[in-house]
Amino acid sequence: MNDTITRETNLPSEAHGAAPRKVFVKTYGCQMNVYDSQRMADALAAEGYQPTAEIEDADLVLLNTCHIREKAAEKVYSELGRIRQLKAERAASGRETLVGVAGCVAQAEGDEILRRAPVVDLVIGPQTYHRLPQVVQKARAGEKVVETEYAIEDKFEHLPALERKAVRSRGVTAFLTVQEGCDKFCTFCVVPYTRGSEVSRPVSQLVAEAERLAEAGVREVTLLGQNVNAWHGEGPDGTEWGLGQLLFRLAEIPGLARLRYTTSHPRDMDDALIAAHRDLPSLMPYLHLPVQSGSDRILKAMNRKHTGADYLRLVDRIRAARPDIAMSGDFIVGFPGETDEDFEDTMRIIRDVTYAQAFSFKYSPRPGTPGADLPLQVAEDVKNERLQRLQALVAEQQTAFAASLVGSEIDLLIEKPGRNPGQRVGRSPWLQPVIVDEMAGEIGDIVRVRITKAGPNSLFSEPVTGDGR
Ligand code: SAH
Ligand code: SF4
Ligand code: F3S
Repeated sequence: MNDTITRETNLPSEAHGAAPRKVFVKTYGCQMNVYDSQRMADALAAEGYQPTAEIEDADLVLLNTCHIREKAAEKVYSELGRIRQLKAERAASGRETLVGVAGCVAQAEGDEILRRAPVVDLVIGPQTYHRLPQVVQKARAGEKVVETEYAIEDKFEHLPALERKAVRSRGVTAFLTVQEGCDKFCTFCVVPYTRGSEVSRPVSQLVAEAERLAEAGVREVTLLGQNVNAWHGEGPDGTEWGLGQLLFRLAEIPGLARLRYTTSHPRDMDDALIAAHRDLPSLMPYLHLPVQSGSDRILKAMNRKHTGADYLRLVDRIRAARPDIAMSGDFIVGFPGETDEDFEDTMRIIRDVTYAQAFSFKYSPRPGTPGADLPLQVAEDVKNERLQRLQALVAEQQTAFAASLVGSEIDLLIEKPGRNPGQRVGRSPWLQPVIVDEMAGEIGDIVRVRITKAGPNSLFSEPVTGDGR
């Protein structure tokens, strides 16, 4: 690696003139990819690449991809088709364009991507972004580069330096990756193969970064991990910490008014984490806790290692600790072997839990996962019908939850200007967008508002005056 660096920094293209090179990053998939895209931009900024929102202006186009379902992965290839056109047009006017594929498709498909889409110059997996500057330099020298080593410890070692470099847009909310990878091996899922096994970042790094974020004006931090509640580390007193203990520590940081975390697994919800929900006012009362199915038969086939009843008991314990908590979940319909009865069990668990929000998907067989080889794959029209019914039920619950807030007073974190002049948009504790008059407060303020109306995608509110906030 080192001699690559020395060789490449002497490349003449550095002296190309005044115009800085530009990078366009397109992000697919989960919040972890959003976070990683920001760190990639940070790594490249140090090399003189400025971010641009216009793909036509980009000297480097990076697609940060998702492999979770077939549709997500295929989207990348149609985008690469469009980029081939763009690259040709730019080349006609003498401008070079480098094209990179990052993220989970890069990890899963590696150099296969170069064969299928020759327009691609570099392929880089999610564990090696700290090497991006060198990889880009190699690609600029004309080499096709594929970098998909599992180097997660290495990445975590480099993250603090990247985070310090971060050119933050003055947002008041931020993501912080605390854990990456998954050892659960649900039989439908590619993540253990694309992100590797679970690795946690150390407490001291996370506290330092959270403090830096707070000093930069961030009011709300969302801790990220593929299995965020599998995070573990050594506390300053030498004891073993889980996510609960970490949240108690982060809650002490002045200025951080709101904490969230995602995505959690039912099997890793321990007592300390539930206690954090009970005792920490800054831990927001919203929990994304996917169950995937309500049928014990299907849960077993999915290798989830819990039953529907286990999940319901867990939700009861969490609600006992934090009665106003809003639940969110993920569901898969049409897993191989799913009968009408199994599906009705899923509908039942949704009715029993009552979700404020849920994400639902048709099962998509993924190469290399055990589920893809199972007999009794469910027909597409059956999946469609089940998905529609499930989504209608969830939409009903979501609407009812929003309507139940009308007339009540809530705390609102003001995040950005609204679409119409005079408006601002914030988030409720339950993650709903809330519109308020700009007189209510500045971006970053937490203000008391009364919900006046529930629209299809957001709530409307008016400031509550006279309480001295
Ligand atoms: N780590 C998280 C989820 C990661 S993937 C967890 O364990 O819950 C996000 C969601 O995508 C999953 O919760 C699941 O509902 C869905 N998903 C994953 N693989 C899928 C597949 N092969 N087909 C359809 N949906 C899938
Ligand atoms: Fe995928 Fe299961 Fe791991 Fe979640 S817990 S990332 S669904 S294997
Ligand atoms: Fe997709 Fe990878 Fe995230 S497969 S959901 S981008 S971990």
